[in-house]
Amino acid sequence: MPDLIIKNARIVLPDGIVEGGIVIEGGRIKELRKTSNLPDSGEVIDAKGNHVLPGLIDAHVHFREPGASSKEDWKTGSSAAASGGIATVLDMPNTEPPTTTLENLEKKRRIASSKSVVDYGFHFGASNENMKELNSLAGGVASIKYYLGPTTGNLMINNDAIFYEGLRVLANKGILATTHAENAEMIEYFTEKLQKDGREDPIAYADSRPPICAADAANRAIFLAGLSNCRLHLCHVSTSLEVLLIEKHRKSQQLTAEATPHHLFLKREDFKKLGTYAKTNPPLRNKEDRKALWNGITIGAIDIIASDHAPHLPESRERGIWNSSAGVPGVETLLPLLLNEVNKRTLSLEKVVRLTAENPAKIFRIKNKGMIAEGYDADLTIVDMNEEFTVKNENLFTKCGWSPFDGYKLRGKPIKTLVRGKVIFEQGYINEIPGMEVSYV
Ligand code: NCD
Ligand code: ZN
Ligand code: ZN
Ligand code: ZN
Repeated sequence: MPDLIIKNARIVLPDGIVEGGIVIEGGRIKELRKTSNLPDSGEVIDAKGNHVLPGLIDAHVHFREPGASSKEDWKTGSSAAASGGIATVLDMPNTEPPTTTLENLEKKRRIASSKSVVDYGFHFGASNENMKELNSLAGGVASIKYYLGPTTGNLMINNDAIFYEGLRVLANKGILATTHAENAEMIEYFTEKLQKDGREDPIAYADSRPPICAADAANRAIFLAGLSNCRLHLCHVSTSLEVLLIEKHRKSQQLTAEATPHHLFLKREDFKKLGTYAKTNPPLRNKEDRKALWNGITIGAIDIIASDHAPHLPESRERGIWNSSAGVPGVETLLPLLLNEVNKRTLSLEKVVRLTAENPAKIFRIKNKGMIAEGYDADLTIVDMNEEFTVKNENLFTKCGWSPFDGYKLRGKPIKTLVRGKVIFEQGYINEIPGMEVSYV
């Protein structure tokens, strides 16, 4: 007898939506069947005609542990993810200590394994000093992350030769490189100039990191990765210039790209409403850039949407625009924002699944995840496309306690999240079943 069946579901498959049921055994999807043909089972979930998606994979989160557990920890972060329909997260290395040595990676592994309710993987950080660690790395990580510009943490690479050498090492090992692509010197120059001019208004932050900063660094990363034959994934693409670059080079080299919900749904003008709470790297852009990102999604230049969930406490946002922390939370609102677009008919549910499950699994080579298919992990997100709700800071699971989308009225909501056949989120509650580290193909 199977462990669990899900009946009366609208199952979102890569090439269409089918009505039926899912048979689950040993945490895996055993088969799909018509609801009338389902076998008996110990446990039954009636999806009541709701859509069932493959559990989402958020490829870019900052769960802050070790080092800054006052902002977020693996329990609050993973609970926030689960409540947002996310079954797997890939955590970034800019923690304290940073994930730049095997020892520090082990330390983070121990924390995640004891606290995370969702499955997880780790991006390993490149630093100015850790070429030896990169050389001895035998896989087991989602990517090696290169911070080409200044942002939260202390991981900025300050010489392109270190980046180039690293890319060649990774190419040999078949490991993916990911980048925070912003030009550090340009940022420094513009920032000093604006500060000298006495600019203190929040929008000055966007001006201190204009689109050319991101585009120039992305261009360099694409060039160096191309020369090195290294697979490259551009994190948080935010400008029309980057979309053009990706379009131009994706046919001749292994290049993928990510956009965040905040760059897709917010814009420069939101600094007026959100003040320092809109501060994030790269900064919010104008309408044209935002439109280019949506177009990038349509034409396939943008492969995935990831949250860049970067929680910071309100107190660190009350220090003026230059000294406030940068980054916005986003694991809980990513899927609802996209479902709302599906309801507005600007996006199909199949496309949402490609952007948030199928493609992340492919790019980061995560084993047995990202699809509803025989033999895959039974990571499933049940969504009610008709539920209307308002995003409210006080309802969030993230420890930072706020969202730039507070007050947004949305239609479409995750109602249940399953990881390997176990319900970890349901009706506002988290079921604390330990998550596991993903494997890579
Ligand atoms: C991120 C953070 O706070 O960790 N901040 C941000 O503005 N996005 C780091 C990053 O992804 O650049
Ligand atoms: Zn970044
Ligand atoms: Zn980030
Ligand atoms: Zn459809």
